[in-house]
Amino acid sequence: MATHYAYSGPIDCTQEPNVNNVKDKMVIVTGGSHGIGAVYARTLVQAGAYVMIGDLDTKSGEALAGTLQEGRVFVSRCDVNSWDEQVKLFDEAISRSPTGRVDAVVVNAGIATTDGIFADDSEQDYPTKPSVRILDVNLIGGMYTIKLALYHFRRQYRRDLAAGKEASDTSLIIQSSMAGYLDMPGSLLYAASKFGLRAAMASLRHTTPQHRTRVNLIAPWFINTGMIPEHFMDLIASKGIAWASVQDAAGALIAIIANPLVNGRSFAVVPRKWAPRGYLDIDQDDLKEGDRLGEWQGLLLSLGDELANLN
Ligand SMILES: NC(=O)c1ccc[n+]([C@@H]2O[C@H](COP(=O)([O-])OP(=O)(O)OC[C@H]3O[C@@H](n4cnc5c(N)ncnc54)[C@H](O)[C@@H]3O)[C@@H](O)[C@H]2O)c1
Repeated sequence: MATHYAYSGPIDCTQEPNVNNVKDKMVIVTGGSHGIGAVYARTLVQAGAYVMIGDLDTKSGEALAGTLQEGRVFVSRCDVNSWDEQVKLFDEAISRSPTGRVDAVVVNAGIATTDGIFADDSEQDYPTKPSVRILDVNLIGGMYTIKLALYHFRRQYRRDLAAGKEASDTSLIIQSSMAGYLDMPGSLLYAASKFGLRAAMASLRHTTPQHRTRVNLIAPWFINTGMIPEHFMDLIASKGIAWASVQDAAGALIAIIANPLVNGRSFAVVPRKWAPRGYLDIDQDDLKEGDRLGEWQGLLLSLGDELANLN
């Protein structure tokens, strides 16, 4: 893999991924007890990986683990909004990993509740202080996960080099959403959290290859999970809008982890009428020929590593 990101067009997502490349990897999945995260965990184990789930709901995580090969799924009680609990999650993953390494981290835990910023309280004499829990969980919690993934991936890289070994591939997969790309009226906090995570991917993809870490995004269209409230489901159904499949989200995850050449890309998970395998490279995170912002982006990137190292 190149040590810097360079755009070379979208990844062909019509090919069967080489699942052998996922075998025996230790993968952390936050929010892995339910919904998309649970299917990620199941699919990873079926591909021969080890999974450490970090979730508020350990009971459901343990129940899921009970249905899968013994000794492959571990569950840690973790509120992603707690730095200390996330530190513990990573420590547990390392102690459970047969190689003592973490190979991939999936920043998945997220919530979608009513939006207190958008809520109209103009009939009241005073505004209600809004909850920003969506940002706390999706964005701040996600940033903690990203920080810890980078910390451990960089340490593993240093250890490999010190031992005179070729550094291993490590992978950070960030769960954004179509709400990170499309206008979502009424969902300021949720959209801001998913745009924010997308920004993290775009920023990181230029530097992580230096320690052999790849960073990619998954951006699902609507998937029928417990996160979607009933009235929202009814609205989608009433308009005849198709769902994306949770299995195809797992297909996208496997395709990213299995291919050591995929870095800096975003895979949309969409209904199969839009993509044969239910996911495709959305190809919206790179400025194209003639784009007005291209020159400015070029100037920023010409500052090279010195810009990143100002930190
Ligand atoms: N379902 C969709 O349509 C859809 C679309 C785009 C993106 N997403 C994203 O996919 C991710 C998973 O969503 P889902 O649909 O599977 O939701 P879900 O509600 O089915 O599952 C979310 C999981 O996260 C856990 N969780 C919630 N808060 C947590 C916290 N503070 N710390 C640790 N774990 C926590 C829950 O216990 C649960 O296991 C989210 O980031 C969501 O924003 C979902």
